[in-house]
Amino acid sequence: MYETWEELEKSIQNCQKCKLYKTRQNIVFGTGNKNAKIMFIGEGPGADEDKQGEPFVGRAGKLMNMAFDIVGIKREEVYIANIVKCRPPGNRNPEEDEASSCIDYLRNQVILVKPEIIVLLGSVALKNILGKEYGITASRGKWVEKKGIQYMPTWHPAALLRDESKKIEFIKDLMQVVEYKLEK
Ligand code: URA
Repeated sequence: MYETWEELEKSIQNCQKCKLYKTRQNIVFGTGNKNAKIMFIGEGPGADEDKQGEPFVGRAGKLMNMAFDIVGIKREEVYIANIVKCRPPGNRNPEEDEASSCIDYLRNQVILVKPEIIVLLGSVALKNILGKEYGITASRGKWVEKKGIQYMPTWHPAALLRDESKKIEFIKDLMQVVEYKLEK
């Protein structure tokens, strides 16, 4: 566990803990406010993120930005990261060994950011953070408290591209996050 961002970022620079290093263009570490109250966790970089080295800059990210605008979240005031930092080829889900060898980087990021709220984007984030027994359909929109952090599971923004009806649920889940923050 590293106590500074500099040390943590340095430790990941030449990471070869899993096979994803062989096909990556860039490590997608994370972005945003390092003292954010709200953190978003996705699954893993896609092609655009791999190219640019930044999370959620492709189609799903643009949709997420639009949802942020609607509910009044500023992208620069939150912190955004993924379960795996390197792109799984062909946008497949990260495999178990890939997620487990990468998760300590994310744990370290959470410790450094100290968020009050973590929004889990989709099933991969949900299962890797809260446990395999959670399913996204039953869990989305419902707060889970664990070790002093409030978790809000919701759809992955890419799911909204496939199914329009999920958009309104995604917005509602984000509204709960904004309202929780306003109440405090
Ligand atoms: N999907 C993710 O889960 N993360 C990204 O950074 C981009 C797309």
